[in-house]
Amino acid sequence: MKFFQKCLLTEPHVCPWWLAYTFDNPFRRLFHLPETIFAPHLKQGMTALDAGCGMGYFSIGMARMVGETGKVIAVDIQQKMLDVLQKRASRTGVGHRIHPHCASPDRIGLANVVGKIDLALTFWMVHETRHIENFVTEISSLVKPGGKYLLVEPRGHVPLDLFQRITDVAVQAGFHVLDHPRIALSHAVWFQK
Ligand SMILES: C[S@@+](CC[C@H](N)C(=O)[O-])C[C@H]1O[C@@H](n2cnc3c(N)ncnc32)[C@H](O)[C@@H]1O
Repeated sequence: MKFFQKCLLTEPHVCPWWLAYTFDNPFRRLFHLPETIFAPHLKQGMTALDAGCGMGYFSIGMARMVGETGKVIAVDIQQKMLDVLQKRASRTGVGHRIHPHCASPDRIGLANVVGKIDLALTFWMVHETRHIENFVTEISSLVKPGGKYLLVEPRGHVPLDLFQRITDVAVQAGFHVLDHPRIALSHAVWFQK
């Protein structure tokens, strides 16, 4: 029962770690290529934030792109996700560029990097947060002036009106819309602060 509670149940609406294997697997490179998604926004030496990183598919892709002088802060509320991420990252040789952080469901809590993030990503995760306004406002506080934010939500699972609501919240939090990129199976928008 304890195993069931710890491993199979999470917050309501939050993707449990074992379900992440259904989309975070080697086939994902056929439709979500980090190099294509982040070019030309992510460059060597940058500090990137992957909020709701899960098992780190994008954290690892971003860590390759920021190079030895950059870093990726990978945030999740499930320690199990971060454990898998760290194993995968060290196998690919970029583990030292990734800084994992276990957040609480109500607060990311990265006071040391307020206003220092060059690029923030939330991929298929904002709809899982308890309080969308607070979460997106906190993302905005972490991004530096002129920094970028890519919001991606799953098409179908997240209806267009909810995606529009999240976009409006991001604009109220200080971002402006740059572009609506095409990303498979998703609604997506690039913002700049
Ligand atoms: C559907 S998964 C997506 C994972 C990853 N972004 C990807 O595309 O592979 C959503 C992730 O967001 C995390 N999450 C949900 N609410 C969160 C919050 N408030 N802060 C940080 N992470 C959160 C979940 O634990 C889960 O790992």
